Order: sequence, then structure tokens, then C-alpha cells
Amino acid sequence: MTKFNDSLSIRGNVLKNRIVMLPMRTFSFNGDEGNFYGQEHIDHYTKAAKGGTGLIILEATDVSGVLTEENQWTKYCQNVLKTIAYNTKFYGAKVMMQLFCGGDKTVDINKIPKENIEKKQKEMLEAAIKSYKLGFDGVEYHFAHGFYLCKFLDSRENKRDDNFGGSLEKRIKILTDILAKIRENTGDNFIVGVRMGLYMPNNEEGIATAKLLEEKGVDFLDITFGMEEPANNVPSDFELSHIAYSGYIIKQNVNIPVIGVYHLRTPEEIEILLKNEYADLAGVGRGILADPDFTKHLSYKKDLKKCLGCNPCFWYEDHTKCPAHTIHNILNK
Ligand SMILES: Cc1cc2nc3c(=O)[nH]c(=O)nc-3n(C[C@H](O)[C@H](O)[C@H](O)COP(=O)(O)O)c2cc1C
Repeated sequence: MTKFNDSLSIRGNVLKNRIVMLPMRTFSFNGDEGNFYGQEHIDHYTKAAKGGTGLIILEATDVSGVLTEENQWTKYCQNVLKTIAYNTKFYGAKVMMQLFCGGDKTVDINKIPKENIEKKQKEMLEAAIKSYKLGFDGVEYHFAHGFYLCKFLDSRENKRDDNFGGSLEKRIKILTDILAKIRENTGDNFIVGVRMGLYMPNNEEGIATAKLLEEKGVDFLDITFGMEEPANNVPSDFELSHIAYSGYIIKQNVNIPVIGVYHLRTPEEIEILLKNEYADLAGVGRGILADPDFTKHLSYKKDLKKCLGCNPCFWYEDHTKCPAHTIHNILNK
């Protein structure tokens, strides 16, 4: 029976436990001197590593600008990222970048000229190589939540009649084309994962995509939702969320590790996920924002500052207003 503090090896990297900090944009952090990243980011991720998290996946970093060292890739940002990789590894975590192709959900991928997609592939490749050089253990490509890459996967969105659309094989080409080059230019242990949904627009397509990504050499899958939240009928005896159920369906169809996601905030929920083998790893998002010592507190079985599930989460606007700390501090006095 898998427990949260069991180790797991991904491509030769031993994760000391099963708790993964999910990628989460830190919208209200300021960055230093006009740069996207700064000291606040260093402190934030270092704290999560100190708190015992096994694997940390940094917030979405846009690959645009990587070739010209702009946007999230200025020299200054790269130094911050290098420090984050160093610090988190110092505290025994494995650490990865999440790479995405921008947050514009209105983009029509069918109108993008082929040359621009090929340029995007160059940026996706270069961003992986840079991540490796900065000391990260791997990258996760963000093929979820209705963004650019997500649209390539979903046959309702992707109507391209060139190399990047049509068959499933072609719909994943934007990544699979560059995989060999990533391998050639990074270390043998460098992890490449994909964040995706199951339902697009049916479970069969999601399962087929997951299997093909595994066959092409992707090292793990992080299962959230795709263009929209899944319309699965979750069986009544499944005790976790509909999104965790998507992860379970994928888990039954692949052999690479699967991260289960959504509303995993208590020791009980983590235990249900792992002991039933609904997933190999427990992805914790807001739970770690509420309590960077989440994993340590799971071990102690006390003092966990539980995420209160505010809607919307204060971390989208102003993290200083996240009530988890204040309330628990008062209760603990
Ligand atoms: C403030 C905030 C920022 C987020 N940013 C990202 C992101 O950069 N990339 C991503 O894939 N998901 C992002 N997410 C989604 C989370 O990774 C996660 O899937 C979601 O919060 C559900 O997990 P949870 O219930 O454990 O929080 C974000 C969520 C929150 C609350």
C-alpha cells in the first residue's frame, strides 16, 4: 500500500516522497527591478522545499522570449530561476519548470502560419535546454486548461490540415517532433512530462493521447482538465474529485507515473488517492499555498494549515489576503 512518504524514481531521479507542488502562477508577486521573477519567488519555492515537498513544479513560464532573453527569460530571471533550482534541491526536493505558450485563450490555432508553429517549437526546445542548464531536473509542458498547446490536442479545436493537425499522431507533433532534440541536448536523467486533461471531448481520445505520449517517450503525466472540466460520471464509491477520477482512468492505461490532482488538502484525501492507487503522486496546489510545510505537517500528523477553499482563491489577486495563515495562527495561539 503506497504511503505519501514512499519514494518514487522518475527517469533515475529519486523523489523522496509522493507530494508534488503543482504549478501555480504567483500573480501578486512583484519581481525585482522590472523583471518577472525576483526574491519573492526564491523565498516562496525555497519554503515549499524546506517544508518537505518531494517534487516542485514551478508556475507556468512562457517560452516566448527564451531565444532573445526577454520576458520571463531575462538574464536576471535566469539567475533567479537558477537560485530556485539550487535552493530547492539543497532541501532535497526535485524541481521542474512548467513551460507554456502564453495565456491567451482566444488564440485560433488554425490561423497560425506553419512557420510560426515551427518557431514555437524552437522556443519550446530552447526553454527545455535552458531549464536543464539552470539546474532543473526536468520540464512539464502545459497542454491543459484551454491554452495554446491544449488546443492542439483537442480534435474539436485543432482543424489544421498540415503536419500539426488531423490524426492524433499529428496533433501531438508540436512536442514529439522536438523530443529527440531535447534528449540530445540535456542529460540522460532530464525529465519531460505533460500536463493534460482526459476529457477531449471524450475519455477515449484522452486515453489514446496519454498512451501515445508514453510510447513517444514522455516520462510522466499530470492529469488535470483540458478545454473544459470533465463530464465524467464519477462512480459513487469514488471518494475524490471528478478531476482526480480523470487521473485514475489515465493511470489504468499507462505505465509511466501519473500525478493525481484537485482538492487534495488533507492527510485523509492523500491517503485515499495513494492507497487505492488512483495515482502515483499526489498533486497539491492550494494546499501548499496555504501551508508551505504541508508535507512536514503530514509527517507530524498535526499543525496542518488547511486551505479554506476560498472562491476565487486569493492567490489569483493578492496572496497577502490568503486567510489560511491568519486564521490558523489565531487558532494555534
Ligand atoms: C493561484 C493559482 C495559479 C495557478 N497557476 C497555474 C499554472 O501556472 N499552471 C497550471 O498548469 N495550473 C495552474 N493552476 C492550477 C493548479 O495547478 C491546480 O491544478 C489547481 O489549483 C487544482 O489543485 P488544488 O485543488 O490542489 O489547488 C493555478 C491555480 C491557482 C489557485
